[in-house]
Amino acid sequence: MRLEGKTAFVTGGCGGIGRAICARFAREGAKVIAADLAAWDDAPEGVRVVSYDVTSEDAARDGMARIDQHWGGLDVLVNAAGIEIEKTIEDTSLEEWRRSFAVNVDGMFLTSKYALPLLRKSDGASVINFGSYDGFIADPGLAAYCATKGAVHALTKAMACDHGPEGIRVNAVCPGYVDTPMLQSFFEGDGSGRGGGTIETLKQAVRDVHPTKTYGTPDDVANLVLWLASDEARYASGQLWVLDGGLSAQVQQMKL
Ligand SMILES: NC(=O)c1ccc[n+]([C@@H]2O[C@H](COP(=O)([O-])OP(=O)(O)OC[C@H]3O[C@@H](n4cnc5c(N)ncnc54)[C@H](O)[C@@H]3O)[C@@H](O)[C@H]2O)c1
Repeated sequence: MRLEGKTAFVTGGCGGIGRAICARFAREGAKVIAADLAAWDDAPEGVRVVSYDVTSEDAARDGMARIDQHWGGLDVLVNAAGIEIEKTIEDTSLEEWRRSFAVNVDGMFLTSKYALPLLRKSDGASVINFGSYDGFIADPGLAAYCATKGAVHALTKAMACDHGPEGIRVNAVCPGYVDTPMLQSFFEGDGSGRGGGTIETLKQAVRDVHPTKTYGTPDDVANLVLWLASDEARYASGQLWVLDGGLSAQVQQMKL
């Protein structure tokens, strides 16, 4: 088992990608906390669900103090909590802009800040932040989301530089389209540019635009996160790992 004896804290652990990560970590021998605003009634053995708001400094401070008392440290932190507002900047209110940064960026800052003293006690600590291919290239109508993911990418590199010498590796996983509730609401929302088509035609259009002709699953993402969390990835740090079926590798082709 690749995470035998390790402990892991996963924010957004009850979401589409978070659940796949927590379940995979538990199957690989880790003790896992899924920390989320949402619930997960049938969480698998080895996964404990706790109510947690990433935007609260008190929650981060108290949560990490409890983990330290219980586990005496922490080996793996996954910052996966996130929200997506499907609007241009003109349509985005200041409140929506601030909420996007509060969850996607401040949340990562706060949980990481209070986890660091625990991670320093590990023999091989790994932090995995959730960026997005939207932090490199933009989907139309996702302005605040794209901006938060760009910030996550820069923060990941800064954390890797600062804390690498303390034995803490920090990487970002940057997925393309992954089939989760977040993607379903993108399909159903106004920002999708559906332009009169059905959800099925939009899904097919999304598949077709990928060189691999498919979008990703939460398990695809969990496979990469598992490797980054494990000691197999001891030389991997400070990188932005794009997982997008080749989507961002291609230029749009003209129909001649
Ligand atoms: N699904 C995709 O296509 C995709 C693509 C690129 C990046 N991502 C990123 O992957 C991560 C996981 O996304 P997902 O697709 O599983 O989304 P999801 O909506 O299924 O899960 C996100 C989880 O974050 C939780 N959350 C939201 N606000 C929170 C808060 N204040 N405190 C604690 N938890 C909170 C939600 O309750 C939810 O369980 C996100 O950071 C997202 O931006 C997803």
